[in-house]
Amino acid sequence: MTRTMKWIRPLAAAALACALAAPALRAQQKQAPAPVLKQELRGMFLIGAAINLAQIEGRDTQGSALVRREFNTISPENVLKWEAVHPKPDSFAFAAPDRYVAFGQKNGLVVIGHTLVWHSQTPRWVFQDAAGQPASRDTLLARMRHHILTVVGRYKGRIKGWDVVNEALNEDGTLRPSPWLKIIGEDYIAQAFRFAHEADPRAELYYNDYSLENAAKRAGAVALIRKLQAVGIRVAAVGLQGHYKMGWPAPAALDSTIAAFAALGVKVNITELDVDVLPPARPQYRGADVSFRADTSSALNPYARALPDSVQQALARRYADIFAVLLARRGVVERVTFWGVDDADSWLNNWPVRGRTSYPLLFDRAGQPKAAFDAVVEAARRARAARQPTSSR
Ligand code: GLA
Repeated sequence: MTRTMKWIRPLAAAALACALAAPALRAQQKQAPAPVLKQELRGMFLIGAAINLAQIEGRDTQGSALVRREFNTISPENVLKWEAVHPKPDSFAFAAPDRYVAFGQKNGLVVIGHTLVWHSQTPRWVFQDAAGQPASRDTLLARMRHHILTVVGRYKGRIKGWDVVNEALNEDGTLRPSPWLKIIGEDYIAQAFRFAHEADPRAELYYNDYSLENAAKRAGAVALIRKLQAVGIRVAAVGLQGHYKMGWPAPAALDSTIAAFAALGVKVNITELDVDVLPPARPQYRGADVSFRADTSSALNPYARALPDSVQQALARRYADIFAVLLARRGVVERVTFWGVDDADSWLNNWPVRGRTSYPLLFDRAGQPKAAFDAVVEAARRARAARQPTSSR
């Protein structure tokens, strides 16, 4: 044996071993490619998340990467709310929303606008005159128009749809006595939609609210949409915020709510989905009123260190039930957006009780998919299998 042969032999043996092992390894990798939400839901509806400035700017690398990998649409958690984008009468703060829209465009995401007219996170000056008294109807209408034309106009053609009016209804279905209603009167909603249409005639315009799954509030929303339609306003979709609890709403109530809006010829988006597993701070309260606050206690924060597996599994079953309804109503449901990317981002860590440890989303604090993620993937696969005619091969 030559000297060369001596070292070639073991090398060849190693190469052979590698070659033999490679297909097995590849097969293993092929067997279990990590599922990706937007791929699993392709052709069903858009799937998105509300994102914050740290994700927009890439400082939250984990969150930012998750958004790019898993979702195909984004909503702005705060950067387009009035107080953020238009803090003073003559000053707009476009740096953050510009980055938000650029992030979406760069990554091929459908970009949503939230929100134009809301009673909350809107500066006091909007509703006041120079003497600090309530502004006149004309002044407030002019301010609303200026705001909407400036903000919607800036992103014309780049933001696909806008939550034009957010949370205009009380639980009983009557109109919420917000400064908008008190100063302008009932037509403030129609006016907001007209201004938004004027600013970007091709943008989809939405009415967005929580608890529409409850009969009285849903009836109020149905009446509201009908009134808008009667005066020639095109509401593209109703947004069900989707701040859900483990036991509310019942899947049947969610289903009949979607059906009620579908009957009006509007689409339905789930715009702020999360499922709260923590004990309610006020047992009978089911809404998502941001002004509601409660004090903390350890009884209200039972999973401060970790989520017990039984609760993890229950959350997964709850998500399976919710998505079964949404997938069955695909076509009417065009978009499902989570309010946050992973559990650490969620507003439910601080509402209605500050400093709790909440688990409402599909990704845990390390950015890992939870059992609820698997349940959503499973629901999507089941819906796809049911849709496809069984192959004869
Ligand atoms: C409401 C608003 C959202 C957000 C949540 C809580 O649902 O529509 O913008 O403020 O409350 O974070």
